[in-house]
Amino acid sequence: MQLSLAEKKILSDSIRDIKDFPQEGVVFKDITTLLNNKEAYQVLMNHLENRYRSYNLDYIAGIDSRGFIFGAALADRLKIGFVPVRKKGKLPSTTVCEKYELEYGYDEVEIHLDAFPKKDARVLLIDDLLATGGTANAASKLIKNVNANLIEVCFLLNLTFLSGATKIEKHAPVYSILEI
Ligand code: PRP
Ligand code: MG
Repeated sequence: MQLSLAEKKILSDSIRDIKDFPQEGVVFKDITTLLNNKEAYQVLMNHLENRYRSYNLDYIAGIDSRGFIFGAALADRLKIGFVPVRKKGKLPSTTVCEKYELEYGYDEVEIHLDAFPKKDARVLLIDDLLATGGTANAASKLIKNVNANLIEVCFLLNLTFLSGATKIEKHAPVYSILEI
């Protein structure tokens, strides 16, 4: 089911712009004002639940850290498992890693090798924001590297002017609730 224009407005109005954070020239999209707004948070979670109810998913994978908030809530709504894709050095068991490029230097994300115990698992990857696509591209590779099926990659907000979706669409369809 599509979000109505009124519902989209509730969501977009609830995301706050913070100028010059974390550095000068950047406008930071602050989702804490969506999370503490019960109407907006319900609009978002009801929409995600309605959309993905029919996808026959086995797991939601969320990207460290803001992807955990929506991903874990959605997994609970769908009564399926949740899998964290974490920044390097946080997962205790055997992992696979993927490097990705930042503006200056590199970062790494990891997943447990046995993160998806179900064979041929159907997985939705979720995060709050698609910017350059570096993080979600690396997370998508990890999910495939542990032999799960990446069914879709979902974002609350896509900064389309950075064209991040072109990287992710190589792995799976991309769904963005809001675009700017
Ligand atoms: C932000 C955002 C996405 C990512 C998008 O996370 O939550 O995960 O950057 O950027 P990209 O498309 O250019 O890779 P961040 O790494 O700041 O960490 P956080 O979620 O822990 O705040
Ligand atoms: Mg993040």
